[in-house]
Amino acid sequence: MNKNVIFYFSGTGNCLKLAKDIARELPGCEIVSMGRNHHCVLDGAYDSVGFVYPTYFVGLPLKVREFLLELDFGANKEAYIYAVTTCGRTAGNALAQAAALLGQRGMRLDYGNKIDMFSNYVVLYDMSKKVDEKTARSDKAAVPVIDDIKNKAARKTGGVNPLLEWYYKGKAKSIPAMDKGYTVSGKCVSCGICKEVCPVDNIALQDGKPVFKHHCEQCVACIQYCPERAIDYKNKTQGRGRYTNPHIGYKELGAQGDGTHA
Ligand SMILES: Cc1cc2nc3c(=O)[nH]c(=O)nc-3n(C[C@H](O)[C@H](O)[C@H](O)COP(=O)(O)O)c2cc1C
Ligand code: SF4
Ligand code: SF4
Repeated sequence: MNKNVIFYFSGTGNCLKLAKDIARELPGCEIVSMGRNHHCVLDGAYDSVGFVYPTYFVGLPLKVREFLLELDFGANKEAYIYAVTTCGRTAGNALAQAAALLGQRGMRLDYGNKIDMFSNYVVLYDMSKKVDEKTARSDKAAVPVIDDIKNKAARKTGGVNPLLEWYYKGKAKSIPAMDKGYTVSGKCVSCGICKEVCPVDNIALQDGKPVFKHHCEQCVACIQYCPERAIDYKNKTQGRGRYTNPHIGYKELGAQGDGTHA
């Protein structure tokens, strides 16, 4: 039997939830984190290869770029390849960039689509209180996309928008060191959850407190999952709400380090 795999990246759980929902519909589908797995090689014949990731600054998370450039597709040039990005509303170039990167590698993206989910970038805005309503809406929006993937539908992404690309490139340069703006207050109880949920191992604990290693992805998992709301970005996030996907607890997100979810 041919195999299926989904590579995902997720800060606050939306993409992991979606990846699980897609995987449930595909026989024997593995779910593998792009965050902590490097130099993956696809051994054997895959029926489908999926990528599920959030939109960051109208483009790809840096780690997803790197992963798309490095993944060894093995003998799977003819597999059905799809990408789904979750975003607040504006996916911009997040799909077109993936198509272009795959194209550079002699691969093609058969299907690209976006799903609007809860918008989590607490550095820029407060968290909406309509979590249940927004979750119900995004669950519904996912249904036809999952059907498309089951049926191996084709969907083009369009080309990269140059103006959005200019904005993205400007932002991308500063992302890894943005954690220099993170502060940890006296409310920290040294539980280690921030370290556990960080998808790229950018947090170490020193004397029980998080220190940041400056290869941050800005996924905001540490800010959002901290049970004491002890982590803030400069003076932007104090007093703002916090959001994590209601279906994905920190333990499951933390299991990203293990690579594969059953
Ligand atoms: C650094 C950052 C940048 C973001 N940029 C965008 C954006 O350009 N457009 C958008 O619609 N949503 C944007 N978002 C919202 C996320 O794409 C959205 O909440 C996504 O579902 C989060 O997925 P996750 O829970 O798997 O991390 C951004 C979020 C973060 C953390
Ligand atoms: S999650 Fe919050 S309370 Fe726990 S170690 Fe990290 S900063 Fe401290
Ligand atoms: S340090 Fe925080 S924001 Fe940066 S990648 Fe890790 S969890 Fe995400």
